[in-house]
Order: sequence, then structure tokens, then C-alpha cells
Amino acid sequence: MSQQKERWASRIGLILAVAGNAVGLGNFLRFPAQAIDNGGGAFIIPYLISFALMGIPLLWVEWAIGRHGGQYGHHSTPGMLDVLGKSPLFKYFGVFGIFTNLVVAAYYCYIESWTLGYVWFSITGAFNGMNTDQVAQHFKNYLDSGQGNFLNLPGTAFIFFGITVTLNLWILSKGISAGIEKASKILMPLLLVFGVFLAIRALTLTEGTMGAQHDAIEGLNFLWTPNFNSLWDPKVWLAAAGQIFFTLSVGMGSIQCYAAYLRKKDDIALNSVSAGFTNEFVEVVLGGSVVIPIAVAYLGLASLTSFSGFGMSFMTLPNLFQYWGPVFSVIGGVVWFGLLFFAGITSSLAMGQPVMAFFQDSFNIPRKKSVFIFGALVIILAIPTIILYDHGAFDEFDFWAGTFSLVVFALAESIIFIWIFGIDKAWEEINRGADIKIPIFFKYVLKYVTPTFILIIFLGSLISPVGGEWSQAFSQLFSGNGWPLAPDSVIGKIFHIGVEDRDNIWVTNLTRMLLMSVYLLFGYLTYKAWKLKLKKEK
Ligand code: PHE
Repeated sequence: MSQQKERWASRIGLILAVAGNAVGLGNFLRFPAQAIDNGGGAFIIPYLISFALMGIPLLWVEWAIGRHGGQYGHHSTPGMLDVLGKSPLFKYFGVFGIFTNLVVAAYYCYIESWTLGYVWFSITGAFNGMNTDQVAQHFKNYLDSGQGNFLNLPGTAFIFFGITVTLNLWILSKGISAGIEKASKILMPLLLVFGVFLAIRALTLTEGTMGAQHDAIEGLNFLWTPNFNSLWDPKVWLAAAGQIFFTLSVGMGSIQCYAAYLRKKDDIALNSVSAGFTNEFVEVVLGGSVVIPIAVAYLGLASLTSFSGFGMSFMTLPNLFQYWGPVFSVIGGVVWFGLLFFAGITSSLAMGQPVMAFFQDSFNIPRKKSVFIFGALVIILAIPTIILYDHGAFDEFDFWAGTFSLVVFALAESIIFIWIFGIDKAWEEINRGADIKIPIFFKYVLKYVTPTFILIIFLGSLISPVGGEWSQAFSQLFSGNGWPLAPDSVIGKIFHIGVEDRDNIWVTNLTRMLLMSVYLLFGYLTYKAWKLKLKKEK
């Protein structure tokens, strides 16, 4: 299909690029938030089991699908799934791999731009002398500046968003090895150094040092004291599996794209696992050793429950860094937000490449032009998340594209690859050129355990009950009182169950229509592309 013969230049570059793909805001912002919401030590066991039985096998599946598709000139998932079987429908499942990357890139670049903004604020000492409330208010003002309230920080959210998107496009325009690979080779080592620096600083905070009130280690105990009861709690499983999807970048079509630039006999068995373990190291060791321990050292264990999502990183940390004195507070801020920015950009590049590759492969659009198309689409899609942030547009993007679609796509691709393409061929594909011997045990995991695991996660997310109380929900069902659907279950979302603020429903519905249109647009483009291809072949 395409004439492009781009390749990764070196193995170390490849590993850093795929690690950069996986290591992202998910590792430093989402992971601590999920761990706190799900009881710390209660979260870790389902999380690690999901990594072993679902994460690693899915990495193999995606790398194999990608390298296989790449041999046919496909660098995005519609084409990759198309060559796995005879059904003309497979490519439309593959559209998910464009849809999610594009939509997630839009809101992800927005968060990424906050981190850039916060590097700037840290350098310029914007937080100096602010008290707790003022630092928190600063974040609200920042978000407001994207929502038409220009009073406090005129236009700031847009400015940093613009810079962030431009940087992304600039790197993408340079191509695989001179762009993505080179950026990862510079940014990933820096990220590791920054992360290690912060982790050491955080963990050595003891009661009385630098104004700390508690030992930071208490924060680690919170995360690492296992609670086996959670093994029976489907809510924790859903959260843990969801985090594994997001953090490993699986179910998105992004890993497949990077793997498509490999040669037929390049190793994937070891590369995928190395990148996966690097991601886990950065997530549980570094990601787990910064925000939670610092917050615990200054504010105590009990404070953890009062944080939600991004609150901790943007609203609290800049304030806590001030305990470190005038110089170290600046360094703390620059290192922390710089690390987040590096983590973010190496991930958003990975979302851009498959979308661009789709245009390049399917319509022979040159790289520079496809960068523009991607950029324009990202900006158009990001605008609602920016200007309607408080009305829930952002959350809709995250739920449908960044959570639900990943599970749907992973389910589809693993069934197509393992059951339709066939486990024997799949196993051969994964092991060709392998630098490690994967235990045969995993062949059975791939065939039965992984797809079942994803299926259960999928079904569970459709109908999860209020508060994640499954046993209560079943007894309510059996006593004839119906199933108490949770507002954040998929079906609950569709029907706006439990939405109190009816004012925002129009935003929610419009956002969903927008997302649906994106899917349909790429479905149509896929249809067109294949028609074109048939014509050419005749
Ligand atoms: N894994 C990235 C993170 O943890 C997010 C991501 C998802 C990146 C999908 C690329 C593709 O932040």
C-alpha cells in the first residue's frame, strides 16, 4: 500500500521509544489516584495479576499484530486487522485504533500542556508566598482561563496548549527515527533521572526534616501492605485492569503502530516485555514513591482520601514544595512538572503516529501534510474539552475513548488474532526472531485466560453496581428489587443514571455525538481507502 520504508534506527532507541509510549501521565498522575481510591494495598494485588495475565499477553498480541501488519505496509490497525482474516468487517474494528488515539490525544495534550504551564510557573516563582488555598485556586484559575474567564490568567491555558501541540507536531514531522526515536533518547533518560531524584527526596523525608510532620515511608506502607480481601472485590479488579490498559497503552493501536516499523524477524518477545517492565518500574517504584509519600509526609495518611484525580499534583504539591526553601522549591517544581511533561509528550507522540500513518498509508498523503491533518483534528477535538471542562466534556472523552474503547478494542483484536488468525500462527508470529523463550504455559494463557479476563472486565464495566457493591447488588436482584446500576457503569452512563446536575446533560450528549462522528468519519475513510485500493489492484 505505502511506499514508506521508515524504520527504527537502533534497538535502544526502539526500547526507549516504546517505553516512552507507555510511560506517561498515567504512571505519575493516574496510578497514585487509582491506588488511593481503591485502598492502596488493596489495589496492588489485582493490579499485578492483571499485569501478568492480561497486560503482558496483550503486549505480545499487539506487537505481533503490528509487526505482521507492517510487512503488508500497514501502520495503523484497520489494515492490520484486515490482513488477519477474511472478513471485510475486521478493518472496521481496527477503526478503534485511530479513533482512540486521536480522541485521547486531544484531551491528553491538554493535560500535557498544564504540566508545561506549571514548569513555567515554577521557574518564575509564581507560587512563592502563596498559601494552600491560593495554590489550589491558581489551578482553578488556570482551568478557567480556558473557559472564557480571562480575569486572572488571560488566555494562559490556550497558550500552553498551543505550544504543546506545536512541539508534538514538530517532532512528528521529523519521522520515526529522526523525530520520535531521537526525542525519546533524550527525554526518557532525563525522565528517569528526575524521577529517581524526586523519589529519593520524597522517601528521605522524615518527621522534622524540611518541615515534614510524618515519615514519608508511611505513604509506602499504605501502598505496599497487601490487603487480600480486595481479591473478592470486582470494583478493585475493574480499576486495576483499567489502569493496566491505560498505562501499558494497550487497546489503543499505538503499540501496534510502533511495532509496524520492525523487520519481519526482529525480536518482539523480549522487546515488548522489556518495555512493559520498564513501564511498571516507573509506575510502581517511581510513580508510587513521589506524590503519595510527599503528601503523607506533610499532610498525614488521613489526607489521602481528600484528594481527587489531579488535585494532588497540581493543587497541593506546588504548595508543599515551598517547605523546601526558595531554591529547592523551584527545583522541585521544575523537576516534577518537567518529568510530567516528558512523560506526557513521549506518549502523545505515540498517539499521533498511528493517525498520521493511516493517512499516509491509505491516501498516500505525505508525512508533513498528515502532520497538519492530525494537528487540526487534535485542536478541533480539544476545544470542547478545554472550554467545557467544568461541564464534563473532558470526562466524557476520558471515559468513552480512554477507558471503555480500550477494553472493546483489546477484546476484538485478541479474538481476531488468537481465535480467527489462530493460536498456532499467533504463537509462531510472537516467537519468530525471539530473543527469549516464552514458557509454553503462556500459549494457554493467551488462548483462554487473557480473552476471558478481558471479556469479564468488559461485562463487568457494562453493569457495575452502585458503589461497586456486587454482593449487595445480587441480593437486591434476587429479592426482586432490580439491579442497582452505578452511574459510572457503561449502561448507567448511557442513560444518565444518577446525574443530579441535569444542566450538563446537553454537554454530555453533544460530546457523545461528536465522538460518534469521529468514529463514523474514520469508518467512512477506511471504506473509501479500501475502495481506492481495490481499484488500484485491478
Ligand atoms: N500509557 C500512557 C500513559 O500512561 C498513555 C497512552 C495510552 C499512550 C495509549 C499512548 C497510547 O500515560
